[in-house]
Amino acid sequence: MTPHPQAAPDDTTGPMAGKTVLVTGGTGGIGRATAAGLAALGARVAITGRDLARTRASAATITADTGNTAVDAFAADMSSQAEVRRLAREVLAAFPRLDVLVNNVGGFWSTRRVTPDGLEHTFAVNHLAGFLLTNLLLDRLKTSAPARIVTVSSGAQRMGRMNFDDLQGERGYSGQRAYNQSKLANVLFTYELARRLDGSGVTATVLHPGVVRTGFAADDPSPVWKILLPLIRPLLKSPEKGAATSIYLASSPQVEGVTGTYFVNCKPRTSSKSSYDQTTAARLWKVSVDLVRHTARA
Ligand SMILES: NC(=O)c1ccc[n+]([C@@H]2O[C@H](COP(=O)([O-])OP(=O)(O)OC[C@H]3O[C@@H](n4cnc5c(N)ncnc54)[C@H](OP(=O)(O)O)[C@@H]3O)[C@@H](O)[C@H]2O)c1
Repeated sequence: MTPHPQAAPDDTTGPMAGKTVLVTGGTGGIGRATAAGLAALGARVAITGRDLARTRASAATITADTGNTAVDAFAADMSSQAEVRRLAREVLAAFPRLDVLVNNVGGFWSTRRVTPDGLEHTFAVNHLAGFLLTNLLLDRLKTSAPARIVTVSSGAQRMGRMNFDDLQGERGYSGQRAYNQSKLANVLFTYELARRLDGSGVTATVLHPGVVRTGFAADDPSPVWKILLPLIRPLLKSPEKGAATSIYLASSPQVEGVTGTYFVNCKPRTSSKSSYDQTTAARLWKVSVDLVRHTARA
């Protein structure tokens, strides 16, 4: 059991002072740069990672880099729904308000893996974890309104197809297909969430961060990535540049009240045609509820 985190002292100033932000996957890559950017704007920032010591070390680095002492660390392996539920309980216990949730955790896995809940790993981590966490924190976001939910998708959403007949790749798995599907799911989820939150003062936006130099796909890259990545790595965006749209959507007054929109480079963009299909979005929502419901009883 992770020790209950003590909220760090908060004496910050800046445009985000008084706001509390949770960034999932804040130990590295785009998530850490997002958390650091928001901490620099004066927000109280909580980050998550799988290992508490590593997450605390990242939080300490963000404090050292920004001078903001209100940076908290939470540990949860988001491939496990029990851990997502525990994370939500700890966040609710630690923070009386939550102004922004950034669903950033995500990754690419070339080989099929199964989570402790018996679910395909890419779908579970990239979509279901954020779906569950958002729903568990939703009342706190509503009582903190105006509040924002920002989800990190990818340009890969354009190639995504929801294969409801084999959502979890049991009959055939391709890392790329699973990733594309999960990133389309991020967009469908956001648009459906925005419809459900209409009038609540809580907005839901989704973004493509660009192609960014991070630890992405490092665990289990595809053979193509293994060859390509070292060649193109120097050309990729820095994590700081990759975090710009997440930071913008989490903090900018320019997007106050903007909801149900996909952003690239801090600009609204059209997402794939299938992402606007409300029947597909409603079906995904229902399937997702069913896939998280059985762990609620445990
Ligand atoms: N990099 C790109 O070019 C790119 C492009 C498009 C979209 N994206 C999206 O951007 C988001 C962030 O990606 P990134 O490139 O910054 O990746 P990254 O460098 O691999 O960072 C991933 C973060 O997620 C955490 N994480 C990974 N698996 C986890 C799990 N099972 N439970 C809890 N935390 C977990 C990691 O923390 P620990 O390892 O400490 O647990 C880390 O903080 C993802 O949603 C990705 O799909 C990235």
